[in-house]
Amino acid sequence: MNKIEGKVVVITGGASGIGEATACLFAKHGARAVVIADIQDELGKSVAISIGSHICAYIHCDVTNEAQVKSLVESTVNTYDQLDIMFSNAGIVSKSVQTVVDFDIDQLDYLLAVNVRGMALCVKYASRTMIEKKVKGSIICTSSVFGTKGVRERTDYCMSKHAVIGLMKSASKQVGKYGIRVNCVSPYMVATPLMCNMLGKEVMEVEKVHDNMTSLKDLVLKVEDVAEAVLFLACSESGFITGHDLVVDGGFTKL
Ligand SMILES: NC(=O)c1ccc[n+]([C@@H]2O[C@H](COP(=O)([O-])OP(=O)(O)OC[C@H]3O[C@@H](n4cnc5c(N)ncnc54)[C@H](O)[C@@H]3O)[C@@H](O)[C@H]2O)c1
Repeated sequence: MNKIEGKVVVITGGASGIGEATACLFAKHGARAVVIADIQDELGKSVAISIGSHICAYIHCDVTNEAQVKSLVESTVNTYDQLDIMFSNAGIVSKSVQTVVDFDIDQLDYLLAVNVRGMALCVKYASRTMIEKKVKGSIICTSSVFGTKGVRERTDYCMSKHAVIGLMKSASKQVGKYGIRVNCVSPYMVATPLMCNMLGKEVMEVEKVHDNMTSLKDLVLKVEDVAEAVLFLACSESGFITGHDLVVDGGFTKL
């Protein structure tokens, strides 16, 4: 069944990992257009071509830059008339481990610019256009299991993902009156380039490391599992769900 037939979608961070898997799934579920926004231009273009240029387009957009996010949303609406689904997903981790006693403040600032400022800009411009066009759309932001838990290191990342949940909860209260839903998806660890680079390990090794930290022994979280959760939040089957943080964690946050 096509769950998002005819919908126009923007996915930030769509050139890789969770964003790429979601772009593929959305195209399979009948989206009219999937616009991938990222800063990895060659990769983004090749993902768009592999999905099919009749459905998928790549636009360069650095989410820290307000003019570029505004232009991303405007050009999507100019081309496809409206925006139905915004998956605000672009995110990074810092190069070094960040504990409170040895914060690298420049790294902290840059991480917050991508993970928090970028999300705020995507929610701002997606909401504005949905309100203006009277679209009862769905906005989904990627947080993390560390959006609700403390960490021993990577404090900046943990802070940023808590902020995303605050953004989502506030936005859902403010735009609900227009029929716009705002939710988060919060994955447990998935072996994407972000995670493999952070740990300096290959996919298989990353999956082994985290294998027994959830309640679901011998099951490993894949990008496709996260994409299915995003699809659920995007489609009408979740029509009465807003202000929700959907953890995809095999029970990790309950242990
Ligand atoms: N992989 C995990 O274990 C995991 C777990 C929980 C949450 N997340 C979150 O999932 C999201 C996607 O991450 P992923 O694991 O798929 O990683 P990824 O590195 O595969 O994908 C992230 C994408 O974001 C893009 N990006 C980075 N900075 C950007 C910017 N300034 N503007 C636009 N695009 C930018 C990157 O180029 C990349 O294509 C992130 O928000 C991440 O924090 C990941």
